[in-house]
Amino acid sequence: MKDFSQQLSEAQADIFTALGIDTAFSVVTRSNRPDLGEFQSNGALQAANATGRQPREIAEAAAARWSATEIAERPEIAGPGFLNFTITAEALAARAEAIADDPRAGATFIETPRTVVIDHGGPNVAKGMHVGHLRSSIIGYSLKRLFRFRGDVVFGDVHLGDWGLQMGLLIIALADELGGLDAARLMPRPAQLTLEDLEAIYPAAAARARDEPAFRLRAREATAKLQSSSEPHRTIWQTLRKVSLETLQRDFSLLGVDFDLWLGESDADPLIPEMITELERLDLLEDSEGARVIRVAKPGETHKKKLADGSVIDIEVPSPLIVVSSEGSSMYGTTDLATILLRARNLEPDLYLYVVDQRQAEHFEQVFRAASRAGFAPYSALEHIGFGTMNGADGRPFKTRAGGVLKLRDLIHQAEDAVRARLRADKLGATFSAQEFEGVAHKVAIAAIKFADLANFRSTSYVFDLDRFTSFEGRSGPYLLYQAVRIKSILTKAREQRAELGPVNIGHDTERALVLVLDAFDGVLVRAYEKRAPHLIADHAYTLAQQFSTFYSHCPVLREHGAVRASRLTLVSAVLAQLERSLDLLGIEIPERM
Ligand code: ARG
Repeated sequence: MKDFSQQLSEAQADIFTALGIDTAFSVVTRSNRPDLGEFQSNGALQAANATGRQPREIAEAAAARWSATEIAERPEIAGPGFLNFTITAEALAARAEAIADDPRAGATFIETPRTVVIDHGGPNVAKGMHVGHLRSSIIGYSLKRLFRFRGDVVFGDVHLGDWGLQMGLLIIALADELGGLDAARLMPRPAQLTLEDLEAIYPAAAARARDEPAFRLRAREATAKLQSSSEPHRTIWQTLRKVSLETLQRDFSLLGVDFDLWLGESDADPLIPEMITELERLDLLEDSEGARVIRVAKPGETHKKKLADGSVIDIEVPSPLIVVSSEGSSMYGTTDLATILLRARNLEPDLYLYVVDQRQAEHFEQVFRAASRAGFAPYSALEHIGFGTMNGADGRPFKTRAGGVLKLRDLIHQAEDAVRARLRADKLGATFSAQEFEGVAHKVAIAAIKFADLANFRSTSYVFDLDRFTSFEGRSGPYLLYQAVRIKSILTKAREQRAELGPVNIGHDTERALVLVLDAFDGVLVRAYEKRAPHLIADHAYTLAQQFSTFYSHCPVLREHGAVRASRLTLVSAVLAQLERSLDLLGIEIPERM
């Protein structure tokens, strides 16, 4: 189903062809001057520029031919030759009916479906999920839904951090705690070990490794042992991973994010030996201070760096990717490189999206360049979808009052508390059973968190403000849920009154404005898809909900009768379908009632 801008562009292309003008200039877009027209084209000016003809004369000739179309009135000519279009009431009605009838609410499919892997979530074993993982989970999940909805085959992979130095650190910290590295002592009681225990052990171990070189060395050696399948390292690691994974899966399901693949860094490990052989064959590995690296900077890609002694040297940027550390172990980049090989073999993706904190940009640049030099995947198929941080009031990445990272579970519980208080204050859900009330509070809390995260372009950092996130007014998840539930109840009441939907008739300006918003949906999805930008969908949902409120305050629905009521019910049902779809693409669930 084509939107107005496509329909108008095509109609104008026919006219331009008849006038002997290149159709490249025929594009018609939404007007940024709605007072002049709903859609506009500067094609006459572009064509004039290209041909040396008079813009006004081209515009007049084009406008004169417009009588043939039913989409728009004959365009007005403004200034030097802009064409401004106003959609006819008939075309608006037809478009609204088509959207109401369409199970996709007006959204098209992409022409050539691709296979896409979305690497998101990325929590680490033994470290509780923090707000960085929260952003990655939410943004990646929305992109997954959007790509799938547009027609791609998509795999969301959690890419668990389960193979790096943190595993070695944990193993030796645990060994010290238990008085020796003895798997047998640990293994009969894995059920007693919780993620909380691990979360308590890990930060202390990480701090110790920073201060004590000997401890750090032990951790690196333990990492190397684990990676070479030594016991008891391997068995201990398996337990740690299992304990973490169970909790993480619970956390993700609380957040309403799921994955198609629960793989981790360790799953790429079996491919590392042959990967290294291949890198050697290609002569890509170089020795560097005991480590083996791939250089990825192009000649001249350097950065000046000042050393402690005041001298300045040129360093390569991006710096080389470490493939084998000086202890012989795999690094973060090693598993990422091998994971590309693994995914290429198992899934043959056309596109790899890595939804990870912007601060890892250099890491991904290293990995992508290395992967393309090695021929594992073309550089153009690898994309880092970076995002900014969720900050505290001080403008720095959010910390709890105690100075720690905010755990995902705690964040969700805080949001639920805030939502319960608001529901009670607004006397919402007063008649619900305790169970239903809790269910609604949970859905609203998740909507608050997800919408706040998706409401801005992903690279923008935002300030954690639970009060604003959970507000039922303004640009918030709870506001949108409330609107969706309210709109749904109009249709439920209509059914109870046996009021039927019927042909649309545009009688009021607010109906016109509403259909123009509905019409924009497909373009929004296309742009959100191309820019990997779910915030455009969030924007659309909010604009739609607001435009609906304006319409509804001028155009009663159930109080009307006959053809007017039937027409408005069709508009209401198109709005509900699109709002539900938009929220679904953001990964937000709507409660039955509120
Ligand atoms: N575990 C990593 C972290 O916490 C994120 C993983 C992102 N994905 C990847 N393929 N490197 O920073």
